[in-house]
Amino acid sequence: MSRKKIALIGGGQIGSILALLITQKELGDVVILDRPDFSDPMKGKALDIMALRPHGGYDVNLSGTGDYADIEGADVVVVTAGLPRKPGMTRDDLLEINLGIIRDVAENIQQYAPDAFVILTTNPLDAMVYAFYKISGLPKERVAGMAGALDSGRFRAFVSMETGLSSEDVSAIVLGGHGPTMIPLVRTATVGGVPLDALLSKEKIDAIADRTREAGTEVVKLLGNGSAYNSPAASCCEMVEAYLKDKKRVISSAALCEGEYGIDGYFMGVPCVIGSGGVEKILEFEMTAEEQAMLDKTLKAIIDTVKETGL
Ligand code: NAD
Ligand code: LAC
Repeated sequence: MSRKKIALIGGGQIGSILALLITQKELGDVVILDRPDFSDPMKGKALDIMALRPHGGYDVNLSGTGDYADIEGADVVVVTAGLPRKPGMTRDDLLEINLGIIRDVAENIQQYAPDAFVILTTNPLDAMVYAFYKISGLPKERVAGMAGALDSGRFRAFVSMETGLSSEDVSAIVLGGHGPTMIPLVRTATVGGVPLDALLSKEKIDAIADRTREAGTEVVKLLGNGSAYNSPAASCCEMVEAYLKDKKRVISSAALCEGEYGIDGYFMGVPCVIGSGGVEKILEFEMTAEEQAMLDKTLKAIIDTVKETGL
């Protein structure tokens, strides 16, 4: 059986780390694509990771390119092409320039990898994944946005940091848009099955939720030139692995809701079953009145941003 083919559209901060993580998990052969004028640096990144393989016995192949023909027939495509934020910028400030990039990416993926499972990362995420879906024409189950995996990971990390307990045992999910209106669902968060409110005060839990919402901005401010890339890359890798290994993972992902959570026609971070069918199912559950109000607020924020795409 031949190895799967994974195309990374965008070989910058996230794309580079993702190429390494995929290699270390031997998920498949990797093609790192960037702008045509960046073809050589992509070849260099691929060659460098090829030389890393003996140190771990990772038997996958990597290549770099600026030519979309080289992603022909990819099984999975992860899109990070686009500008990241700088300090003082919101994710929505990236809309105009990144929409132009996503349009180009969508048209090329439609031509060269129409059967792929496509994971979008580019910000503003919820609008960009919507735009990709509209332009590419790919079926909804094969288009997902990566944000909830990252935001849920941050939520889990902050709980671990506050409690001193293993991050491995923290179960928590973030729903909604990838922005200040995201919903760290404190009611269902547990550590080893123990409810969060049995371990931490309400004040500390609320502070963790607030820090989760602003974690991306916190990193942007500290880095000074760009945004987080290690944890986003790990989050993308998790979704790639769930698809290629048919793991039926439940991962918060931006998926097209057509009635789920009372939403119709927009992508939003919801609990998704990810397996070989892509986004196989969106899991729903009863919200409290407070949670529903937060859901309404985050949906409005998404709709407002999507309107700016003109799609
Ligand atoms: P980066 O600038 O390091 O990498 C982006 C890459 O895209 C660059 O190498 C650039 O040359 C390339 N690119 C630009 N236009 C292209 C095109 N038309 N075709 C192919 N490649 C093109 O940025 P990054 O830190 O890797 O972040 C990438 C995107 O991911 C940004 O939009 C950022 O805001 C977003 N992001 C999203 C999340 C999330 O949770 N969804 C988290 C962090 C960052
Ligand atoms: C984040 C932004 C940049 O790191 O999307 O969450």
